[in-house]
Amino acid sequence: MRKKVIVLPGDGIGPEIVLQATSVLHTIAEKFGHEFDVTEKLIGDIALETTNCSLPEQTITACKQADAVLLGAVGGPVGENKWKDHPTGDRPEKGLLKIRQELELYSNLRPTILYNELKDASPLKSEIIGDNLDIMIVRELTSGIYFGKKTKIVGDADKDTYAIDEMYYNKYEIRRILKTAFKIAQGRKKNLTVVDKANVLETSRLWREVSAEVAKDFEDVKLTHLYVDNAAMQLIVNPKQFDVLVTTNMFGDILSDEASMITGSIGMLPSASLGDTTLGLYEPIHGSAPDIAGQDKANPLATILSVAMMLRHSFSLEEEALCVEKAVKEVLQLGYRTLDIYTDKDKLVGTTKMGDLVCKCIENM
Ligand code: IPM
Ligand code: MG
Repeated sequence: MRKKVIVLPGDGIGPEIVLQATSVLHTIAEKFGHEFDVTEKLIGDIALETTNCSLPEQTITACKQADAVLLGAVGGPVGENKWKDHPTGDRPEKGLLKIRQELELYSNLRPTILYNELKDASPLKSEIIGDNLDIMIVRELTSGIYFGKKTKIVGDADKDTYAIDEMYYNKYEIRRILKTAFKIAQGRKKNLTVVDKANVLETSRLWREVSAEVAKDFEDVKLTHLYVDNAAMQLIVNPKQFDVLVTTNMFGDILSDEASMITGSIGMLPSASLGDTTLGLYEPIHGSAPDIAGQDKANPLATILSVAMMLRHSFSLEEEALCVEKAVKEVLQLGYRTLDIYTDKDKLVGTTKMGDLVCKCIENM
């Protein structure tokens, strides 16, 4: 099989984790006789630095012509508002939001899987986590408050100075993400939880209305509704109750960070952003971690696991995807850990070594 992959390393730890992930991709190509043509393009802070735009046209065109996109991370140092005076209000994160929208990747799958080897790294008690915790968070990715109209009015008095972020959802957008979630639930434990704030938000009440409609086509799936504040709590007190969670863009952003901590580290969680075609964007759910950038400390496993998702969802290479996932598990079983998941009985390794170990494991499988 021959596929075109665009790689967007981005900022902070992006380049170093993506480097390990592409090594894994090449190792898979070699082992299984595929060809993956990898081309790098700009996004984020680095794109702003060099082209004055967080998502240059060239990047968009290349991504649209590709079979899949692998992204590292975007964003400059925390608290540093480097681009506050940019003439169009551009900033690194806008590049990421725009590429998701340009490619119409409305379904963001964020599998929250706890490797039993990492139970010690989880802040939750072992009896709460249980064995083989596996929750799929499905986050709507191209609408909601992220993409609604944004207004800032500066007046003379405090009360006349205000900002508005509109949360917009239409039935079409809700229906398609719910369908994705129902289908995923059908292939799992057939348990779907729609997370919203229907006691307060009109958009949430529309989500409930549409979920009742969509549910008619998925009678084998058990549908539950949960308020987001309760969901945040339930994830901590009883995460085992969940199979598939589906929610809006912003709630999904927040809950997936929360859920990631159950698995020991946000450095472990991959994601796939999909639309109606096989073109997908794959990225770790964590950010650019500028504080540890360039120090060989970052955990590349979330990005490597994102490659597995790419093989599965964009290329339908299930065996290859499983091979990557098995290799990650094996390396963890052997006791190798990056700093974020390290406990004193483990073998501490850096970003490069972790990537090498996964590649070796794939080669020897
Ligand atoms: C994520 C990130 C992004 C988001 C940021 C960087 C814009 O937090 O992918 O979860 O909020 O979607
Ligand atoms: Mg996030």
